[in-house]
Amino acid sequence: MFEKIKKDLAKTLAPIIDCEESDVVLSLEYPKNLDHGHLSYPVFGLAKKLKKAPPLIANELAAKIPTGGSLKSVSAVGGYLNFSFENLYLQQTLNIETQSEKIGFQPSNGKRIVIDYSSPNVAKPMSIGHLRATVIGQAIRNLAESQGYSVTGLNYLGDWGVQFGKLAYAYLKWPEGQSSKYDFNDKPFEALFKLYVDFHSACEADPELEKQGALTFKKLEEGDAEIQAVWKKFLDISLNEYERIYKILNVKFDLIQGESFYNDKMEKTVDQLKEKGLLVESDGAQVVFIDDNTPPCIIKKSDGATLYATRDITSAYHRHFNLKGDELLYVVGVDQTLHFRQVFSVLEKMGNEWAKNCHHIAFGMYRFKDMGKMSTRRGNVIFMDDVLERAIELANSIIEEKNPSLEDKAEVAQKVGVGAILFHDLVTDRVKNIDFDWERVLDFEGDSGPYVQYCAVRCQSLMRKYGQDIPFEMNVSLESKEERELIRTLLMYSDTLKASYKSFRPSVLAQYLLDICKCFSSFYAQHKILDDTDQGRVKARMRLVQCTHKILVQGLLLLGIQTPDRM
Ligand code: ARG
Repeated sequence: MFEKIKKDLAKTLAPIIDCEESDVVLSLEYPKNLDHGHLSYPVFGLAKKLKKAPPLIANELAAKIPTGGSLKSVSAVGGYLNFSFENLYLQQTLNIETQSEKIGFQPSNGKRIVIDYSSPNVAKPMSIGHLRATVIGQAIRNLAESQGYSVTGLNYLGDWGVQFGKLAYAYLKWPEGQSSKYDFNDKPFEALFKLYVDFHSACEADPELEKQGALTFKKLEEGDAEIQAVWKKFLDISLNEYERIYKILNVKFDLIQGESFYNDKMEKTVDQLKEKGLLVESDGAQVVFIDDNTPPCIIKKSDGATLYATRDITSAYHRHFNLKGDELLYVVGVDQTLHFRQVFSVLEKMGNEWAKNCHHIAFGMYRFKDMGKMSTRRGNVIFMDDVLERAIELANSIIEEKNPSLEDKAEVAQKVGVGAILFHDLVTDRVKNIDFDWERVLDFEGDSGPYVQYCAVRCQSLMRKYGQDIPFEMNVSLESKEERELIRTLLMYSDTLKASYKSFRPSVLAQYLLDICKCFSSFYAQHKILDDTDQGRVKARMRLVQCTHKILVQGLLLLGIQTPDRM
């Protein structure tokens, strides 16, 4: 990979320009245009030190750098030094480094990341909005593992709060709640959500119901056995439903630990805040003041109830000390930015050095053209389930039309349909809002997941056609522009993983996979890969096809997307 090539180049370059090798590595860039070389070094930083114009420095340095061996040429262009390497050297590097089972993975760095993702609210179906928290989280989790971190993936369920008192009341005591409208035996999750929506709208008309709900929550908090059993039932029903979706999405957690887990741990947080003199009374509530630009963080309401923030502060302690997280990541929508700013500030004020290692990985929201603001209570949401179902159905109908004799059609349709949804989400820069548009979500052409999958499938079918073991060698220099473009792009894989993780942006990897597909398509269009009189060239090309396949499959998998063998 270029990672290694950069290191080797830095060894030559560092003494000549009088810089640390590691700084040289960090400064090396990839020129957009391959005609400008494989790597370039901007000399602008040296201009100040040497008090000379950058183009002059570049020219002088270029003359001092020895070429030969793997380094084919050095040239000065403006304020840049451009380097080109020998084809065979690049091919051999690619050949060797793609032999490993997990390409681009870094050795363990001894650090642990605790990452909070998905974290839906019990009793509610996951909406398309939760899709982001789930799939971005899973992708970042996978990328963290590729960078040598140990990872604890945590599903911090929203399983506590007054809404569970309301639901329990509706289930046990509300006359209407007993009616056959709510079929808890046959479709428990649907029944639960329907009860949720209906009872909340009934509350709007009848404040007495609201009061009963609050009272029931109080009983739940006090440990009333009957109500706790009902709450547990809601939790199980919900988890069952979520597990079904996680399985489809290829999402896994190491730990499912909801907000309720912290019920008996919050008093300690409150005591610590008191001890440190941070807790202040304000309008009957207990709050921590942050700064002039940030509203205070409410720790306890006037009735003594704790809040979402109280639980998050408590949970952060647990994640750092008990789960041994060196860095705590929270994959949560941008609408909770203030909440996390408050929580992290309170942790810092409490004197925790590690608070600086807490990161809110915010993502933009789905926007809906005709639906107004999304609200689960009003029931006008797009459910993740419907989106998945529609995508899989569409994949199915395309397969029926184009390739009806395909084996394992259902399995392929699932991989393609889910791949489309995931890629559509992940290829968008996470901080941007996404306009929800069925046509775009289900567009299987263009820059989509199925397009990348299809590229990998093409490689696979070439390998099948070749019909022999592909040798681990690329001894013939592949010199066409398309081949050189493809090779240099593949060599950027490990650097791309690094950059994608560092910025917590799976879109960096997704965009890169599209680049590979574009290079591969030109290569495929321009060359009759199997039809060449030079068997050495056929072998080298087939190995290139195999490398492309491996990197596409592994890259997609890091995004949570599986690749079928045929489609
Ligand atoms: N359950 C919350 C929601 O759906 C997200 C929780 C995010 N994680 C956290 N530690 N606050 O809005």
